[in-house]
Amino acid sequence: MDEALRRVARAIEQAERILVITGAGLSADSGLPTYRGLGGLYNGHTAEGLPIEAALSGPMLRRDPALCWKYLAELGKACLGAAPNAGHLAIAELQRRKPGCWVLTQNIDGYHRAAGSPGERLIEIHGELAPLYCQSCGAEDSELAEHLQRPLPPRCRQCGGVLRPPVVLFEEMLPEAAVDSLYGELRKGFAVVLSVGTSASFPYIVEPVLRTRQAGGLSVEINPTLTDLSDVVDVRLAGRALDVLPELLGHISSDRICK
Ligand code: APR
Repeated sequence: MDEALRRVARAIEQAERILVITGAGLSADSGLPTYRGLGGLYNGHTAEGLPIEAALSGPMLRRDPALCWKYLAELGKACLGAAPNAGHLAIAELQRRKPGCWVLTQNIDGYHRAAGSPGERLIEIHGELAPLYCQSCGAEDSELAEHLQRPLPPRCRQCGGVLRPPVVLFEEMLPEAAVDSLYGELRKGFAVVLSVGTSASFPYIVEPVLRTRQAGGLSVEINPTLTDLSDVVDVRLAGRALDVLPELLGHISSDRICK
């Protein structure tokens, strides 16, 4: 793997613009569940016999908010009960060294911000868990942790309406601002794209990898198992993000970096 790591490190040193795409596998090293693959959330059905995608959907939040919130609370408790890991910190360090390095994350745990990634170069394409807001009057509510200790669904202090997190639930549209930001940056192109800990299950995750390759950039996957992208990328670094990312940063020499 060393030769491959050095190849990626050289490309990053020379690159002005870099895109790091992250998925649940990056936070798996913090103890959070992934969605697919071994032990993934989506492999099972809920206690009610529903696919988890149905329980965590926009229509379910409207039809049966208590049921939807039962599974939102599980995600919320997992995120609040864990913390960013060395993989998140390595990505934040890369962004500090490379002002043209962006993060496109599918994760809603807020760990990139907590690890120090700059919000203005972070695209949270599936939103994030906090702050909650009221679906009836729009009031914001920053007490996710407290609400998770009370009967669900959480209610608005102002009007009693059902609160929800600013996440993209199944059968809901992606946040317009995040999509605009992603395609605005894609139009400027990237010299290197790293796909980290994602099964690449969505077109807006695959497309940045394909477009970077087609434009002559270097595409890299960091994942212990194979995905649909594995045959497409130039370099596959088979391993855990927690191990590979800090090692990769160790190969990137600060004095050889061009800004
Ligand atoms: N390091 C790197 N990759 C890992 C690790 C690890 N320690 N552990 C697991 N992985 C990989 C798995 O092999 C898998 O390919 O992470 C990937 C996780 O894939 P998914 O569970 O599908 O998660 P993700 O790709 O982020 O899913 C995308 O689907 O339903 C939506 O909103 C949900 O944001 C999520 C999106």
